[in-house]
Amino acid sequence: MKRVFNFSAGPAMLPEEVLKEAASEMLDYQGSGMSVMEMSHRSKQFVAIYEEAEKLVREVMNVPDNYKVLFLQGGASTQFSMIPMNLMNKYGKVDFVNTGAWTKKAIKEVKIFGQANVVASSEEATFTYIPKDLKFSDDADYVYIASNNTIYGTRYTEFPKTKAPLVADMSSNIMSEPVNVSDFGLIFAGAQKNLGPAGVTLVIVREDLIGNPIKGTPTMMQYSTHVENESMFNTPPTYAIYILGKVLKWVKAKGGIEGVYQNNLKKANLLYNFLDNSKMFKGTAAKEDRSIMNVPFVTGNEELDAKFIKEATAEGLVTLKGHRSVGGMRASIYNAMPYEGVEKLVNFMAEFEKTNS
Ligand SMILES: Cc1ncc(COP(=O)(O)O)c(C=O)c1O
Repeated sequence: MKRVFNFSAGPAMLPEEVLKEAASEMLDYQGSGMSVMEMSHRSKQFVAIYEEAEKLVREVMNVPDNYKVLFLQGGASTQFSMIPMNLMNKYGKVDFVNTGAWTKKAIKEVKIFGQANVVASSEEATFTYIPKDLKFSDDADYVYIASNNTIYGTRYTEFPKTKAPLVADMSSNIMSEPVNVSDFGLIFAGAQKNLGPAGVTLVIVREDLIGNPIKGTPTMMQYSTHVENESMFNTPPTYAIYILGKVLKWVKAKGGIEGVYQNNLKKANLLYNFLDNSKMFKGTAAKEDRSIMNVPFVTGNEELDAKFIKEATAEGLVTLKGHRSVGGMRASIYNAMPYEGVEKLVNFMAEFEKTNS
């Protein structure tokens, strides 16, 4: 068996301990004689798995009691329309900070239901920075941001203060650094980067924002449906929730979010320090807004980029190609990427630079 260091933007690496434990339980989960995949979602054993996963989300993120934790399907992208259907109920207007492809997709969905007011955008600079000094409307139902921009490698180091509830797409940096949940009205994240396998979407929503959907909102799209049925209105993504629980147990064992954050900083600093001193490779995001999860970089020469990606792959450093919309390279270094993976990448980059300049 050969495991590689996988720098994929998502689905991404999972902690090896989690995979091993899941493998050991694959055929017979704790004496049940079946896999969690084969288990009724209403069985005592699965209900315990579900309750443990929710408890761990609350514990690890320090979720206040007036917030609901939901495990939904449809990916983060379904939230782009589910959020307006549930929250856009007073003014029919949402304030957006447009920081990339994912906020653009959310803007497009909001326009189906009402007004999407873009208060600031970094599109003119290919989304290489996070706009500052934001002025929000007095009549927005909520303010929408993406806390980390997977494609461009930018992140908010400080969240805007808003009168309207702040809604954040945290798909690519959830649980990677401490956040204060009570600063937000709603937080959501597809699991496939920092939480587990694709198929489950975590939604943390303040109670007072639930229960007043716009007219015509289908039952499955109402948060209240899932709150009232504890995410079991229909069959939830059982196996993904089971793995998510194991990943959160791993986070807890690493010292919780503060522990993984310190490790994330070490990994990101190692890579950025190299990029800042390299004559061949260059980071593309504005320094003050750099993501500690996704690190895009270029050589400025497409042929050299391709050669680098090919040779890195042969070394077991895989999925380093940048997003198709921006090119170059991108190293996604989520919670589960070991420090050794980044170290190996940086050593390989140094070696490549020496032999190709
Ligand atoms: C920030 C962000 N939001 C949303 C999405 C879309 O997630 P999903 O594929 O789960 O719909 C992604 C996927 O990469 C993402 O990076």
